[in-house]
Order: sequence, then structure tokens, then C-alpha cells
Amino acid sequence: TKSCRKIKKIKSILGEKMIEEILKLKKEKDAIILAHNYQIPEIQDIADFVGDSLELARKASQIEAKIIVFCGVKFMAETAKILSPDKKVLLPDLDAGCPLTDMAKYEDVLKIKEKYPDAWVVSYVNTNAIVKAITDVCCTSANADKVVRNVPAKKIIFLPDKNLCWYVKQKVPDKEIICWDGYCFVHRLFKAEDVIKAREKYPDSEIIVHPECDPEVQKLADGIYSTSGMLKRAKESKAKIMIIGTEEGLLHRLKKENPEKEFYSLGSSKICPNMKKITIEKLYKSLKEEIYEINLKQIIIEKGKKSLERMLEYL
Ligand code: 13P
Ligand code: SF4
Repeated sequence: TKSCRKIKKIKSILGEKMIEEILKLKKEKDAIILAHNYQIPEIQDIADFVGDSLELARKASQIEAKIIVFCGVKFMAETAKILSPDKKVLLPDLDAGCPLTDMAKYEDVLKIKEKYPDAWVVSYVNTNAIVKAITDVCCTSANADKVVRNVPAKKIIFLPDKNLCWYVKQKVPDKEIICWDGYCFVHRLFKAEDVIKAREKYPDSEIIVHPECDPEVQKLADGIYSTSGMLKRAKESKAKIMIIGTEEGLLHRLKKENPEKEFYSLGSSKICPNMKKITIEKLYKSLKEEIYEINLKQIIIEKGKKSLERMLEYL
């Protein structure tokens, strides 16, 4: 209706004003905006840098700006703080967590370390800072197999994602890998049936999935990639249609960077509600009021830094 159109127009003017303000504040305060590939398109478009968790960790370790506004989930902002402790790191919504991280509790990790004293603990970056502090080396989905292959230990405790652990086991069969029992509730929504149906519907397509998907899904897919791996594969692949088994936010970049190709979510699109908590309004408020600051104890920063820096060395 006419009034709906009017409201839409007002909203878009307000949105544009807010974007202008964000750009102004960013300059005034010497801030940089980092965003994960799963963020809403508006956030991805305003960010200085968009990437997967490995790229964002790397970027955070090289930043010169005074303030980092991290548009992602809490463990990612904590990782940025650990790697850039003298910067002010802001997360626009403190409730943007990742349930997978809470599946590896500090006390339980200590217990398993005692049980297998000769094993190395390899933690996916999707862990809380305190767990990183008792981890030997971190990894992301882009380098998990490489890190496990390169650590100087035969026995590995891999946490917290059991599906990524399964993937690593296939790639590094000569090591004894003990998998933690965690999972990402978003990626577990993809089912083997979705792959079968997608292949029937788009027989010439290429189907790629994230290693947080169940093994049954990984086995049926054409390739298994982290989000940055998917972006790279999309550029290289000859397929005109690609079916994507990860959080739907990635489709924005895939489409933007490959306008000649078609991209569809595997089955219905899957949304990580935590990643979607960051909005333009919250980003604006975060920059303006310098909230919510990530603060970590010095000892956690020092110890966590070792496990993250080791990951960057093992690449
Ligand atoms: P990437 O490391 O592939 O960006 O994945 C992070 C994540 O949270 C996956 O759900
Ligand atoms: Fe965590 Fe899964 Fe969301 Fe990634 S997609 S942030 S692993 S809940």
C-alpha cells in the first residue's frame, strides 16, 4: 500500500544516514570494521574486511587502527582481542554467541588432558578464550587437517566439533585422534537427503559443504570447504550452478564475486541466529558509544596467544 511504501522509503533514508554516520565515526575514532562471511549483506558491504575465521584472525593480528569493531560472534571478537590486546575490540551485541563453543567446558578439557597427558590438544577457534588458554594449538576449518598433520604428536585431542574432527581423521589417518562430542546446530540441519534431492534437481551442479556438516552429508558432496575455501572453489569451478551447504550469509559474497553463476542453498537456507544479531543500528551504537568492549584477563591473553600464534606458524 501507499503507507507501506512511505515507511519503506523513510527506513531506507534513515538507513543511509546511519551508514554515513558509521563511516564518519570510523574515521574520527580510527576504527576498522571486520565482518564474518555469515553477516547480513548490509554489514558485509560496510565492513573494511570480510572473511572466514582464519582470515579474520590473521587480519586482527596485523591491524593498526585503534578500535576493531567485530561483526561476528563472541569467540571471534575474543580471538581478535587475544591477537591484538592493545586495541579496543568491540562486539555490537554481546549475545552473539556460538553454542558450539560452550560444548567444550574448561573443567572437562582439563579432565581429558589429564587422561591423555601425551596428547596435544588441538582446538577449533570456535572455543571460549579460557579453553584456548589450555590448548596446545588452535585451528580453523580452513587449516584443521594441516595443523593436525604438522603438530609434533601422534595422539591428538580435537575439540569441540565432532564433524570437523571426522573430516580431519579422513585426511590424517596415521594419527590417533580423539574427537570431542560437540556440533554446530546450524550445519547439522543439512541432511543427506538434501544432497540427493539437489543432485536430482540440478544434475550438472557442483555441491560443496562445510566440514561442520554431518559425515553422511560430507560423503555425498562433491567437495568439503571452509567458507573461504568455498569462495575460492566457486571461482575455479567450471560448474555454472553451485549448491552451498553452509550458512546462507555466504551466498551474498558468492553471488557478488561470481555474477555469471547461480548459487543455491543446499535444501532450504540455514541461518545462524547469532550471526544475524548484528545489525546496522547496533553497529552504529557500538561505534558511537564504544560498546561492548571485549576484556580478557592478561593470563588468558598470554596463553591463548600462544595457541593462536602456533596455528599461524603451522600453516
Ligand atoms: P569458517 O572458519 O569457515 O569461517 O567457519 C566459522 C564458523 O563459525 C562455521 O560455522
Ligand atoms: Fe557457531 Fe554454527 Fe553459528 Fe558458526 S554457524 S557461529 S559454528 S552456531
